[in-house]
Amino acid sequence: MAYAALRSIGAYVPQKILTNDDLAKMVDTSDEWISKRTGIKERHIAAQDETTSDLGVQAALKAIERSSIAKEDIDMIICATISPDYFCMPSTATVISKKLGLGNVTAFDISAACTGFVYTLSIAKAFIESGMKKNILIVGAEKLSAITDYNDRGTCILFGDGAGAAIISATDNKQEAIIDVNTGADGTYADLLMTPNGGTGSPHDALDGEANACFMQMKGNETFKVAVRTLTNDVKEILESNSIESSAVKHFVPHQANYRIIKAVGDALGMTSEQVVVTVAKYGNTSGASIPMAINDIYENGSLKAGELLLLDAFGGGLTWGSALVPFSPIDS
Ligand code: UT7
Repeated sequence: MAYAALRSIGAYVPQKILTNDDLAKMVDTSDEWISKRTGIKERHIAAQDETTSDLGVQAALKAIERSSIAKEDIDMIICATISPDYFCMPSTATVISKKLGLGNVTAFDISAACTGFVYTLSIAKAFIESGMKKNILIVGAEKLSAITDYNDRGTCILFGDGAGAAIISATDNKQEAIIDVNTGADGTYADLLMTPNGGTGSPHDALDGEANACFMQMKGNETFKVAVRTLTNDVKEILESNSIESSAVKHFVPHQANYRIIKAVGDALGMTSEQVVVTVAKYGNTSGASIPMAINDIYENGSLKAGELLLLDAFGGGLTWGSALVPFSPIDS
């Protein structure tokens, strides 16, 4: 039987930085409020002519280079995004494949908001274990600044742009394989976090120009409570069903939405501060890109080593959630 292994990680953030002080000039807020309530200090913002696929390509190039796998051997690309280059088609994954010069690959996007990367991981794992694919590029890429309402202080302080990517490939060595991915969704909470305009749920001709904008809206406080509960339960479930103690986890990588959420979940699970990966201060919430960007951070600062166990835990619009137990298994390990 083929198993699926995480071979490499890469990430990219655009150059421009938007600080809390910059936001305080745009809406009624302050560095003190944002820092205290979210832990965010700054976020990166893509240039006007920089697209989600451009961010994804930069992250993918790093992941490919670090994977020891030839670009030509990639047989599938999945992109998790809620800010695609184009509204309906082509998919951002196909644009990325063209920009990378990948030729004939299976390519598609998935929409699972901040849980997107964990969903792509579960799909990649299934395709590889079934024997249908061998080397899959998964990308989480977001230009959230394009769907953020910079008049709404409840959301605009949270989001940033960026991308992360990973190569998942087939192995016959069970020791280096992804142990488990658990995903779920509950549509009854859809109205907590959504972009209500622009789709067939709100036909364009029924909207005026202003309302037509495809901006994110969030019931922040309610979302916060559901997030803490869901993220905590999700981890308990995946550890228990795989008979793994939390102490065996070297790096706990939760979705980076708000430091208070990360702290509450980490404490509820008894994780030490050394285990919990936190990058929200410098990137804000980058939705589907947040988890691979955080893994890339610990890879680039040297704290992620071959063979170490990652525990991923995501939550987002839909509502969706997902967790994964993933050893880091570069090819020369
Ligand atoms: O990635 C997907 C999942 N997303 C999340 O998990 C995000 C979850 N939610 C959050 O992170 C937090 O709920 C927020 C950061 C969005 C808001 O923090 P909060 O502690 O839940 O604040 P709140 O919404 O309960 O608002 C408290 C007060 C309100 O004023 P009053 O009614 O008490 O006078 C808000 O109007 O803070 C006010 N407020 C602000 N003040 C300054 C809301 N946003 C701001 C702001 N600056 N940016």
